[in-house]
Order: sequence, then C-alpha cells, then structure tokens
Amino acid sequence: MASTGCFILFASMTNLKASQPAVKNNTVRERISINEGWRFFKYDSISDNLIYDERPKVKGYRDDRPADSKPTEGEIFEASQKVLKPWILPSGNDFIKDVSKRYIRPEGNPGSNFPFVKSNFDDSSWKSINLPHDWAIQGPFITGADAGVGGSMGRLPSPGVAWYRKKLEIPKSDAGKSIFLDIDGAMSYAMVWLNGNLVGGWPFGYASFRLDLTPYIVPGGENQLAIRLDNPPSSSRWYPGAGIYRNVWLTKTNPVHVGQWGTFVTTTDVSSASAKINLVVTVDNDSKNNANIKAVTQIFVLDAKNNKAGNAVLTFQPVTGMVEAGKKVKVEGSSTIKNPKLWGPPPTQVPNRYVAVTTILQDDKPVDQYETPFGIRSLRFDANSGIYINEEKIKIKGVDMHHDQGALGSAFNNRAGERQLEILREMGCNAIRMSHNPPAPELLELTDRMGFLVMDEAFDVWIRRKTPLDFSLIFPDWFEQDLRALVRRDRNSPSVIMWSFGNEVGEQYTAEEGAALGLKLSNIVKEEDKTRATTSAMNYAQPDMPFPASMDVISLNYQGEGIRNTPEFEGTTRIHTPPMYAAFHTKFPGKVVLSSEAASAFSSRGIYLFPVSKEISSSVKDGMGGDSKTQQVSSYELYAVDFGSSADKVFKYQDQNPFVAGQFVWTGWDHLGEPTPYYQSRSSYCGIIDLAGFKKDRFYLYQSYWLPELPMAHILPHWNWSERVGEITPVHVFTSGDEAELFLNGKSLGKKKKGHYEYRLRWDDVKYEPGTLKVVAYKNGKKWAEDVVETTGVATKLEAKADRNTIKSDGKDLSFITVKIMDNKNRMVPRSDNQISFSIEGPGEIVATDNGDPTSFVPFQSRERKAFNGLALVIVRAKAGMPGTIKVTAKSDGLTSTQVDIISK
Ligand code: GAL
Repeated sequence: MASTGCFILFASMTNLKASQPAVKNNTVRERISINEGWRFFKYDSISDNLIYDERPKVKGYRDDRPADSKPTEGEIFEASQKVLKPWILPSGNDFIKDVSKRYIRPEGNPGSNFPFVKSNFDDSSWKSINLPHDWAIQGPFITGADAGVGGSMGRLPSPGVAWYRKKLEIPKSDAGKSIFLDIDGAMSYAMVWLNGNLVGGWPFGYASFRLDLTPYIVPGGENQLAIRLDNPPSSSRWYPGAGIYRNVWLTKTNPVHVGQWGTFVTTTDVSSASAKINLVVTVDNDSKNNANIKAVTQIFVLDAKNNKAGNAVLTFQPVTGMVEAGKKVKVEGSSTIKNPKLWGPPPTQVPNRYVAVTTILQDDKPVDQYETPFGIRSLRFDANSGIYINEEKIKIKGVDMHHDQGALGSAFNNRAGERQLEILREMGCNAIRMSHNPPAPELLELTDRMGFLVMDEAFDVWIRRKTPLDFSLIFPDWFEQDLRALVRRDRNSPSVIMWSFGNEVGEQYTAEEGAALGLKLSNIVKEEDKTRATTSAMNYAQPDMPFPASMDVISLNYQGEGIRNTPEFEGTTRIHTPPMYAAFHTKFPGKVVLSSEAASAFSSRGIYLFPVSKEISSSVKDGMGGDSKTQQVSSYELYAVDFGSSADKVFKYQDQNPFVAGQFVWTGWDHLGEPTPYYQSRSSYCGIIDLAGFKKDRFYLYQSYWLPELPMAHILPHWNWSERVGEITPVHVFTSGDEAELFLNGKSLGKKKKGHYEYRLRWDDVKYEPGTLKVVAYKNGKKWAEDVVETTGVATKLEAKADRNTIKSDGKDLSFITVKIMDNKNRMVPRSDNQISFSIEGPGEIVATDNGDPTSFVPFQSRERKAFNGLALVIVRAKAGMPGTIKVTAKSDGLTSTQVDIISK
C-alpha cells in the first residue's frame, strides 16, 4: 500500500461532454469473491501460542449483570511473553493520521514454523466450509447456570481459537500487480499468514479491513492463506458470532490505483432543480516510479439491481497530475447536475441512487476504474424541530438492530437482511441504529436501496469495561483506526445520517476526562466526514455534566421518559432520572435531541399472563408481566426492563416534546443473547418482532402510531382461555383510529375513545367466555377498521406459506416458510405447541428452523421443532446452479401434513 504524504490536485469542474475512456471489464481491477472452498479447524480447548496479546484473568464476572451497570475501570496490562501484536499493529497505519505515530513492523516472522501456516500442511481432515461462516451457530446450546458461555452471549460456543485455510491460485500474469485481501468482518483478533509469512491482522471483530498481500504473493501457482481467529470468553454483552462471518475478497489492481475506500462523494446545494456533486478520489502509487495520472469521472443512474443504467448523466472535467512513487494523492472535483433524482426515505420520498465511475489513466492508458454508488440528498438538523431530508422533516421512526440474523447466526445473508427491513417497513419504521458496531457492508447497501435512515455506530465500550475481555482491551491501540475505517467505508451511503462513536460508555462517569475522549472521537469522525452529525448514546450523562458537550446530536437512552423514576425505585443506587428531554433541550438549544434507545420493553409472542398491569408501563416481575418459572414475559405489551418504559409511555414523552427528532426502539427484532430478564434463555425478549420474524402484538402498536393513515385495528389477547371462563381477562386494542367499540359474542362492551397521550384502548374488566371478540374502530367519527379474534377448535392440520415461492438458484437466496397449526376452520390455534418435522426434496436445503421461543435449546439446524404458540419457521436455501422445484413438507402426529413448492431459478 502506498504510504505517507498526500497531495491535493484540484480542478474547478464544469460539465463537459467528454466520454468515458474505453475500459474492458476486469482488465484494470478485479474484485474476486474468495468465499468458496475453505478448510476450517477449531481447537477443543488448548490452543497454540500465537496470541495477539496477553489478557487479564477473568475473576468473579456475572453474566446477568444489568445492561446499565456502571462500566468498570479498564485494566492496564503488560504483556509478559512474546506476543504478535507488534506485527499486527502496522496493518492499521493508513488510518493513523499522525505519521509519526504509525507503527513500524519489527524484524522477524512470527509463527512461520507453525504447521498450520505452511503450504505443505495437510488440512484434508479439516472441515470444508464456505464463507460467510459462523462456527458457533450450529451449537449445541450450553445450558445451566455455570455454563462457560451464559445467556448474555447466547449460550452458543463462540469463544475459542480457530483456523481457516485456503489455497489461492495466482496466475503468472498477476506479476507486478498489487494484490489485497479484503475481509468484511472476522470475529475476532484475525491474524493472517500467506505462504508462511505473517502479513498482518485486525483485532476488532466488527471491522472491515484490507491487508496487502503483494510482498508475499508468488504468481504462477498456489499460494497458501492461513487465518487465525480468537474469540475470548466474557468478551461481549450479546451473541458476537464467531468466524469469518462476512464476505472475503481478493482485489487485484495495477500499482497505480484508487486506494481502499478511496472515494468520497458529497452533494451540496441540493434542490429538485440542481445539485452540486463533489468527489474526492485518493490515488495510490504502489510502484517505484512517479506516475503521471489523469482522473475522469462520469455519473450514471444506478438501478434497483445495482447496475448503471443508460448513458452518463454527467461528466466531470478530467484532472491531471503526478503521484510520486510510493505516495498517494487526493484528486478533487465537482460538477452540477440538473434536475437530479433525489434520494430520500419512503413513503414520501424515493431512494434514487447514482454511481460515480472514476477512471484513472496513467500516461493516457486506463489503469483503474472504480465505482462509487451514492445518492443526492440534503440533510439538515434543526434543534427545535428535528431532522430534514431534502428539506422535508422526517421524524425518526427507528429501531435498534443487532448484527445477528436469528437462526442463521451472524453469517450475513442478504435476503435475511432484506426480510428484516421489509417487515420493519410494514410497521412504518424508517430508520435503523446499527447497535452497537459497524454493520455488514451489504446491510448498508440495503438501507441505501430501500431508503432507511441510519445511525452508524462504532463502539459499545471505550477504555472502561462492560465485560472482562471486551473491546476495552484493544481500544487504546485501535480506536483511531477503527473509527476512521468505519467512516471511510460507509460515508458514501446516503442512508447514513449520523455517526455514533459510542453507546452508554463508562466514560460518561469520568467527568472532563471522559468528555475529552468523546470530543477526540467526535473530531476524528469530523476529519473524515463533515457532512453528518456525530453522537454518542447516553444513559447516565446529564445536561450539566461535561460529556454531552462532546457531540452534535444529543442521543438519549431511556432518559427522555425518565429512568427508575417511579415510587417503586425510591432510594435506588442505580441510575434514576426524571424525564429529561426538556432539560437537555434547554441546556443545548442548538442541538437536536433524540432517543437512541427507547422502551426496552419485553414480551414473548403469544404469551399472556394475568393479572394485567393497570399502569401504562410496569417493570417486569413475577406476578406482573413475568414468570421466572417458564421464563416468559406477557404480551400485553405493558412491561419493560426496570430502566425502560412501555411503548405507550415512550410515545407520550415523544409527543409532549415535539422538538425531539424521534426514537430508535430497543429493539426491532429479538437478537441472540442478552435475554434480560431471564438469563437462562438463549435470546432476547425486547424485539417488536421475535427471533423467527413473527410479529409480536407490539408490532401493531407501533404501526398504529407510525402509520396513522393506515386503517388498522388489532385485538389482544387470543381468545382460547378454557380455564378462565368467568374470570377477568382484559382486552386491549391497538388502532390507528381514535375510538372503537368492542363486542363479545355480538354484545357491545362499550365504545372507548383515546384520551390525550393515550395510544391503546383497553377494556380491563372483560369476563372471559368463549366465542368471538370483534372490534370496530372509528376515526373522526367514521368507521375506520375492524379486527376479529375467535376461540378456535382443536388443532387438525398444518398450513405452510413461503414469503417467496420463487428464489434464485445462486446458493444464497432463501425462502422463509411459516408453518401454522390450524383448526378445521382455518384458524391458527394460538396456544399449540405440536412437534413438527420438516423434510425437503429437490435442489434446496433446510438451513435452519426456529419458532421464536427464547427458551428453546433445540439447535437451529434441527428438522424437528415444536410450534411456539401456533407458529414455526423453516428457512430453505436453493442449491447453486441447480434450478428446479423444491418441495418442503411439514408433518406432525395427528395433524394433516402440508407441503409448499419453491421454484428455484
Ligand atoms: C441498554 C444497552 C443496550 C441493551 C439494552 C437492554 O442499556 O445500551 O445495548 O443492553 O440496554 O435493555
């Protein structure tokens, strides 16, 4: 990689009619997926000594520590034995601004004698796998109170040391090229050898990184790649996943080429009449000679399939200049586009995209061509009213999302990501907070394409620890590199509107010292991108503390609605605050305030527990929303973690403080690990949607609030309560209407109207009798929507429905099939838990099954699974290059079985 020095070539650009230099595909730059054909080995217990660094001993750590516990002091640790860190640190040099602080690789080649790194090592007994790969998701679940991996990390075997090996065939014709290994994410402490040489590595498991293989490549034959990963125990507050869980690429370029993430497009003076497109391109010269270059950029429309469509809509004036040997230059230009198609979030705007195609010529010969997808939009933050995209105020209707994809684990699958976003969109959600780490690049490609707004987040911890062996161990050496890398990677995504440099960090507690570090991080972000706001989520810092001053946008976790401010928590030593939106707004009149985490409400889909709280929000306890025996939480959707609030309470404080820019709900989907309040379980209870993708009742509460113009009404609970005849069984209705009448077996139970700051209609005195509940909702006095819930008969059959009946035979595409337990009148039987077995014929495979039950320890790969409250999910993948019909069958004793056909083409 070219190093040090940076020159700016600048041309004041006008719109030229020049045409793109003719470049044959793949002659100047190749980006080759190397996901296929890896060998994998994981140590059972004892591993090798090729460690990145020494680690502190873990003493007396409790896995079920409340999420908002005060983070503890970082541990300073002196390495006492030879470790590989000095050879790994130089891999991040491009992201260290102060040249004098960059690392120099020591002499020597550690690990070169270790068998696994050698070309002639026989790995034929290792497991054959393809990437992305998550070694832990296959389980088995580790149960019991003293499990090495507890509930917080999902009870799955992510800790440990493992190796990946692959032979790369490098043709002779690659001699003289620059060859890079691009890893989108490897969990964690990646260290890479090529042909027995330690190339480098990257410890942070959520980072995307590049290693320069050029010095070690031998063209004209096989080159042996060996990657060692190491996941410490007690290193995460949630399921981190394990392995090379994102895509891996081999990038081949000429020595003069666009650098890693080497373009930055910004748009200014944006209106529907015109917009200025500004582009900065970093050109590396890895050769030994100075290079005369010319950069030519054209802009094309990008279509929904990510292809450039039609002819160029704009051509920048070429820029010429010289790049010294071994150096880089920045080439800048800008040009104005007429009548741009703007990027913005649906439903009121359209996420139109463009792509900048930059060709680098050396001595008039094309040597590189690089594509930068982007969107044209304006972004404005107004402290009194919120966030504006293209001068339209967009209230943030957001959710927090973890990186796992439920039963598929952390190995990123594009269709699974798209499905998550599709279901969220149906609820009216328009924004995602990437909690709490850099997401898969493909997820941002999806948010760009689908038009979600994104808070992109770097870290959950800085120096102060939340778990004994978390990122705090590497933060001091790596924060700058990891932060700059995130911004450089993601800053062309129109969906990203804010950079979060931390979540509930312990430095909130360290007054000026913590604030100074916050400011340092914020400034690093701004050096990389001045067009977006910086932020850091705060659950502790108060307006009069120094910390909030370090950021542009005030992001509050739970503080807006107040934390533990009910009589129940009087005298608590835990965090407790009154509702704080107004106090922050007053102290920071120039800053936007929003809720980066709201609610943290809990429920298990289809579970209803009695009695039901009379309040609008209660903390979960045995006998009030929770049942520690069954480890389930009631779906009346009134219950939250003790520092959180129900959705209803959150809505109230959002509406009472209209300057608040909106909220990100903790969380959109359930995630693996962090099963507060029941740490014996495997997955969380906080999602609006369960781990399998089934909607909890809360989905309809958010839908009624976020899509007020969508006529809808939703009754809860189900009406199969044979043991409750004559007992009080409250009925609640979520509706976008303002009034509703409830009928039980045709008899009116009265009409109710929503009061000020009320978001549900509740009939709390209903005495259960079997039959039919019907609600008729009204809006402004007119009939608006209806819902009906009936007592069902016994289960008689299964029903299966695929989310998509035609999928691509590319070995990646998925069909998500919902299996329901039905009675003979085609009604789902709500409390059924029949054992179902799944089978498949044709060119597809069952990759996972689930039912959304946080307490289930049935491995996700099992083809046998109980329904959870009437539902189960089977995920089917088409085999690559084998079109045909895939038949999926679901059977259950005593029930009529069902089959669904999926066409793979
Ligand atoms: C917050 C934290 C989240 C999650 C949540 C659980 O304090 O930021 O990551 O732990 O609590 O309720």
